[in-house]
Amino acid sequence: MYNTLIKEAYKAFENSHSPYSNFKVGAALLTEDGEIYTGCNVENVSYGLTICAERTAAVKAVSEGHNKFKKIAIVSSGGDYTYPCGACRQFLAEFADETFEFILHNNKEDKIKVVPIGEMLPYLFEL
Ligand code: THU
Repeated sequence: MYNTLIKEAYKAFENSHSPYSNFKVGAALLTEDGEIYTGCNVENVSYGLTICAERTAAVKAVSEGHNKFKKIAIVSSGGDYTYPCGACRQFLAEFADETFEFILHNNKEDKIKVVPIGEMLPYLFEL
């Protein structure tokens, strides 16, 4: 499953709209019912409106009725692992349980790192 998600993330990465940063990001999210939703970063000339790949994938899944997440693969045009930004960590946590995993791919060395959500986002905000 890790390899499938990474492959799907790279497909979405091809659609990245990132003319300002020239940094492409792709994500592939696995939902509890086995569906995969992908996303890319979508930048805007008004920079602050930019949406990260992870949140693109998350809103696609939730708006299609899938709001329990199991894993997300994240890939980028950078040469190392791409860790999700803080906003995306919190955003994904809304739909994750403690078994949720981040799957990161280092395209320089073709290596995978799996990070559980408790490690990626300890002490998350909860009401
Ligand atoms: N970006 C993501 O898509 N996900 C992250 O977790 C971090 C950053 C995007 C936003 C922007 O288009 C580009 O990477 C450079 O910051």
